[in-house]
Amino acid sequence: MAVVGPASAESLVTYTIVDDFSIPESLTGAPGDPVKGREVAINRRLGNCLACHVMPIPEQPFHGETGPDLDGVADRYTEGELRLRVVDSKSINPYTMMPAFYRVEGFHRVMERFAGKPILTAQEVEDVVAYLMTLKEE
Ligand code: HEC
Repeated sequence: MAVVGPASAESLVTYTIVDDFSIPESLTGAPGDPVKGREVAINRRLGNCLACHVMPIPEQPFHGETGPDLDGVADRYTEGELRLRVVDSKSINPYTMMPAFYRVEGFHRVMERFAGKPILTAQEVEDVVAYLMTLKEE
């Protein structure tokens, strides 16, 4: 059985936010894998993006509508802008419901076994960003 869950005890990669809106550099220094990123987006223990977003993933029956439809999102944002939204949406909008997927501070009531661990690993963030970059309207 595969063990899924929050990223294992890896120390967080440091990253640079440019113009308050973008993380232009890959967290891992390498491009992500869009196929794996799609799986992370679906996985309820990992991205769980479908809980809040409509996405072009027709085999999954339930798509939430708390956030915007992500189809065509790569036409609206650059890769760096998408990376910051996945890493830490709250740095753009402190009141957003969207979780900060690569941050360990500022959470309340974290279960002890999850403390100090981001929801996604740096690699999973890059995979999700690579998948989001495939979401073009045309
Ligand atoms: C709990 C709900 C929730 C979850 C889970 C969630 N999001 Fe979001 N997301 C939002 C909301 C709400 C917004 C609207 C912008 C805001 O509130 O800042 C948003 C905005 C976005 C945007 C900007 C879209 C636009 O058109 O402006 C992207 C990209 C995005 N989310 C990607 C993701 C990805 C990828 C995942 C999974 C790794 C995810 N979100 C998980 C709620 C969520």
